[in-house]
Amino acid sequence: MNSEGTELELLADWNGVIMPLKEVTVPALDRGFLFGDGVYEVIRVYGATPFRLEDHLDRLATSLASVQMKHVEIARVKTRLLALIKESGLEDALIYCQITRGVAPRTHHYPDHYQPNILIFIQPFSDVYAETRKTGARAITHRDIRWRRNDIKATSLIANCMAASFARENNCLEVVFIDDRGYMTEGSHTSIFGIKEGSILVAPSSANVLPGITKRQVLEIAKNTGIPLIETRVKEEDIYGLDEIFIAGTPEEIISIVEVNDRPIGTGEPGPLVKRIHNEFRKILATVEIKS
Ligand SMILES: Cc1ncc(COP(=O)(O)O)c(C=O)c1O
Repeated sequence: MNSEGTELELLADWNGVIMPLKEVTVPALDRGFLFGDGVYEVIRVYGATPFRLEDHLDRLATSLASVQMKHVEIARVKTRLLALIKESGLEDALIYCQITRGVAPRTHHYPDHYQPNILIFIQPFSDVYAETRKTGARAITHRDIRWRRNDIKATSLIANCMAASFARENNCLEVVFIDDRGYMTEGSHTSIFGIKEGSILVAPSSANVLPGITKRQVLEIAKNTGIPLIETRVKEEDIYGLDEIFIAGTPEEIISIVEVNDRPIGTGEPGPLVKRIHNEFRKILATVEIKS
């Protein structure tokens, strides 16, 4: 459904067969359904070109290896994904690639024999964040209630869903997860950065913090433009003293956070460094789109 409630004819690749997404049915004994035994990727397509595809595929391979999921050929996933973009004819889109351990009798341990189910689907993307990028967004802190392997892009996202819903109920775009030691980790579906005295501060990727692809792009921008970037953890009480905050994610790109827990960050408006970083990001996208 789109925002007007009209059914969109989304296209999917289900185990190698291209078909309308609404015709894909997942078996009841699929381990992704029963246990959340699956991993996924979300990839942005600009000008019919998937952005940082190799990075996404590398992360997918790492996630698969982390949960010992075998029988998935990344090269084949890539071929299917590119064919789906072509078949869809979409220029600006989001691709979801969901891989589960497939169907097996219901026991917790991994089955000896299994064939993963691989679903790739594509949907049109129109930049719903354009306005928010101008105004900045609100965020709210939330205890980091997730498991301890947030480096794995796992489909079991209920803790993230709980936190994202809490943000929404409080008129916020995102949560700022705070770990048990009182440090900011990331958002429910984005990486979080602070800016203090001209330097970007970001939590290092670890078992608790996903190695975001957009985050990697920000790290490269910082390096190439000479903006100092420090990989460090920010304490909850230091959040309000930051000059700027921003979130980064595949659909979001880069968005200023101008309020946390109803308290203004910096001037309470999108700051100059976030604007500059997003401009740099857009410049890179321009080259991606030209290549397509
Ligand atoms: C917890 C979390 N952190 C960060 C991100 C941003 O990652 P990426 O930039 O690869 O989209 C996501 C994306 O879904 C996420 O779920």
